[in-house]
Amino acid sequence: MSYNITLIKGDGIGPEIINAALPVLDKIGKIYNHNFQFEEILAGGCSIDKIGEPITDEALEVCRRGDAVLLGAVGGPKWDNLSGNLRPEKALFRLRGELGLFTNIRPAFLHHALRDACPLKKELTDKGIDLIIVRELTGGLYFGERGRYNKNGIETAFDTMPYSVAEIERIGRVAFEIARKRRKKLCSVDKANVLETSRLWREVMHRLREDYPDVEYSDMLVDNAAMQLVRAPYQFDVIVTENMFGDILSDEASIITGSIGMLPSASMGSTTFGMYEPIHGSAPEIAGRDIANPIATILSVAMMLRYSFDLETEAQAIEKAVVEVLNKGYRTGDIADKESVVVGTREMSRLVCESIN
Ligand code: IPM
Ligand code: MG
Repeated sequence: MSYNITLIKGDGIGPEIINAALPVLDKIGKIYNHNFQFEEILAGGCSIDKIGEPITDEALEVCRRGDAVLLGAVGGPKWDNLSGNLRPEKALFRLRGELGLFTNIRPAFLHHALRDACPLKKELTDKGIDLIIVRELTGGLYFGERGRYNKNGIETAFDTMPYSVAEIERIGRVAFEIARKRRKKLCSVDKANVLETSRLWREVMHRLREDYPDVEYSDMLVDNAAMQLVRAPYQFDVIVTENMFGDILSDEASIITGSIGMLPSASMGSTTFGMYEPIHGSAPEIAGRDIANPIATILSVAMMLRYSFDLETEAQAIEKAVVEVLNKGYRTGDIADKESVVVGTREMSRLVCESIN
């Protein structure tokens, strides 16, 4: 089969981690006889520098024509002082919004080999961490109206968090379906003691749960969820939550699995088209030094094979190879301990490729 993948290398460590993930796809293509075709577009700071905007309509059109998008990372201090619509991050929001990618799937799994990189107590990690955060990605606070105005001569800013029943229902259904295929537990995270959007969110989720009697459902307030994630992370299977809560909780979930450099993500709409990216950012402070951890991007490739191309065997082959390399003691600096063999970005990529068979 032939698959068309749009590549967005982006800024900071973006190009290095994408270049580390491509040989993995190449190896999979050779072994399983698939033809991966690539088209590269600019997005983020590099696009601002070259073209004057974070992403162009033409670049978005290229994404739309393909089967999936693989993205490194965008942003950096160089572009931090630009106004909202000109910032590199705007590219991400246009991609998510205009490609209709309302579901963001962020699995957090503590690999046995990385138990020592987890900052939590051993008694806790012994119980395992294996959860998925389903983050609503095209609504809420990050997409609501915002602005500034003058109130009695004092500059004031506002952001709004709108959610419609339809938006809540579609993400809710996705989350219930994902839970159904796992340990059948779904925790919906909101702030219903304060926010009206959360009260609507809860109402809709409670209606939906009637359709999924086989899934054990619970509600949790977001402040409590932030605490529970470090107090007893083993209690979670699938978490569903609005855009900003999901953004924050997924960073927290990443660090308890060893490093933010390990977590992949998939952004999906209502078809098999998806965008795949590590959840970490562009890490400009370590860019160009061949020390970034490419595993989150490599695992994002595995998610792409699974969710967009329905290639489960191939996805597992990549995940198995990553585990094998970790079990042999190879680590990038962010997940290294005293006993590890510390390797760079390119070497980690080579080791993973070598382990795929
Ligand atoms: C993420 C990132 C982005 C987000 C930033 C870079 C805008 O933190 O994907 O989690 O907030 O969605
Ligand atoms: Mg984030």
